[in-house]
Amino acid sequence: MTENILVCTAWPYANGHMHIGHLAGAYLPPDIFARYQRLKGNNVLMVSGSDSHGTPITLQADAEGVSPRELFERFHLSFLETFQALGITYDLFTHTDTENHYQVARDIFTACLNNGYLYKHTVSQFYSESEKRFLPDRYIEGTCPHCRFEGARGDQCDNCGKLLEPTELVNPRSKNDGSTPVLRETEHFYLDLPKLSDRILGYLNENSDHWRSNVTTFSRNYVKEGLMGRAITRDIEWGIPLPLEGYADKRLYVWFEAVIGYLSASIEWAKNVGEPEKWKTWWYQPESKTYYFIGKDNIPFHAVIWPAELMAVGQLYETEPTKLLNLPFDVPANEYLNLEGKKLSTSRNWAIWAPDLLDRFDPDTIRFYLTAIAPEGRDTDFTAGDFVRRNNDELVANWGNLVNRVLGFAYKRYEGKVPPIGPDGLNEVDRKILAEVEAGFKTVGDLLDAVKLKTAQEEVLRLSRLANVYISDQAPWKTIKENPAAAGTAVYVTLKVIDNLKVLFAPFLPHTCQKLHVYLGYEGQLFGQQYVQTINENERAHVVLNYDNSQAIGHWQSSQLPAGQSLREPQPLFKKLDPEVAEQEIMQLLGRGV
Ligand code: MF3
Ligand code: ZN
Repeated sequence: MTENILVCTAWPYANGHMHIGHLAGAYLPPDIFARYQRLKGNNVLMVSGSDSHGTPITLQADAEGVSPRELFERFHLSFLETFQALGITYDLFTHTDTENHYQVARDIFTACLNNGYLYKHTVSQFYSESEKRFLPDRYIEGTCPHCRFEGARGDQCDNCGKLLEPTELVNPRSKNDGSTPVLRETEHFYLDLPKLSDRILGYLNENSDHWRSNVTTFSRNYVKEGLMGRAITRDIEWGIPLPLEGYADKRLYVWFEAVIGYLSASIEWAKNVGEPEKWKTWWYQPESKTYYFIGKDNIPFHAVIWPAELMAVGQLYETEPTKLLNLPFDVPANEYLNLEGKKLSTSRNWAIWAPDLLDRFDPDTIRFYLTAIAPEGRDTDFTAGDFVRRNNDELVANWGNLVNRVLGFAYKRYEGKVPPIGPDGLNEVDRKILAEVEAGFKTVGDLLDAVKLKTAQEEVLRLSRLANVYISDQAPWKTIKENPAAAGTAVYVTLKVIDNLKVLFAPFLPHTCQKLHVYLGYEGQLFGQQYVQTINENERAHVVLNYDNSQAIGHWQSSQLPAGQSLREPQPLFKKLDPEVAEQEIMQLLGRGV
């Protein structure tokens, strides 16, 4: 049965290039998952985009002396390049500064308001008299009331890690001009989370059977500790204006509207492909499954706040009264990736940037390593030495070597064709390896369905190791003289095993599996095509990344490799790295800042 699968990934703030932590935490895993679901024949929609709003954008824009739009457009384009180079196959990767997103975000605000889930509340907030404006949390610095650190930010102290309210700071000052802000009253809209608390808890309980335990535990505790109303408007200029008269100086809070991007991007995708109602397949059919790939710091927003928004809205742009928007089916959040034993930090420039890494290493090498150390259940560590070792000892020595020696041998010794099975047929050992690898479609498939990507890749590697043992034992390069029939059978069996492993590896290593597909003599593309497009929306134009799966011929099923099929001259799929050179190269990338 064909399933509808919506793959959502966190919307990255477009205020800098991507780094390895982003890739491992939120962007590579959904691609592996989506590619697998597409191979299975499921109806996949994968969407996200650049988060163009919020203080992370405006602070960086101020620091560079450019407009927020100029800043985010530059890094949005950088993201598109990174995703293309690494092969992250979004059906649509857009951004939040589009007319479409503005419209959907405002409609959701209106629906929440009309359904009674928003209320107004007046609070005192810091106001800068010199700049004549309210200051966002991150624009205020002062002394931490807990540890006395003098450079604490209005939202958090970087020294002791405690979350703060700007009004708690001792000696608060504006980050812009050092002036002392004053308190002033201002009115904001609040999302009434307490009103939804029971329903959210019920929803979390219902889904806990298939969620990662860290996500369930965190979310449940967060709700049980007592939800408070959350302000969803801000006194700022950069962002989405409210759909109400009399609030010209206010904008929607970035976290309220960025998550709405999942819905607005699905709608934008449907418009772009000329089937404007098509998004409803994933958002209204109750059996459709929606997955949200994020880093652990995003859990409250995706497992609690976004479901709350969806509950508050109920339905949007739908005429059938019984239909309700689908809530997240799974939120496979990752822990953190560290770098050489230390926490990644962009402000301290402790990171390796995706464009740098992609300049020097093949995309599948990077994909392989980041999956091997995926921070699925706990924090993990990226190290230069481990990167090189795993490439050489696991990827090259195991899978690459199997392909190399068997394809090379077959191409040279069997006139470039797949040899037939000998007259004696298959023996027990042949049958066993074929069956073991074929069972991978189930075992690896189940792991991928359960979003256990790292274990899934390990399982394919294990099967590849078995195949290496098989071919070493058969040693057709030795037996070809005295028992050519047995040698031919062994080569046939191994080629078929390789053809199956090609499919099992394809979601992880799509570029090299495509090459292998060609060497094995096939035509066509296992996956579809990525392409960049400019969308014109009235006065605005924006650049997006698309994916077209219509020409893809890959299937999640066992090979029927025909004897006699012509092979193509194989080239090594992977490069062995010189430990000294490569490790040094990686260490040089550290903190280079592109
Ligand atoms: N921009 C946020 C970040 O990079 C993530 C937003 S995810 C969204 O942490 F769903 F809210 F958009
Ligand atoms: Zn502190």
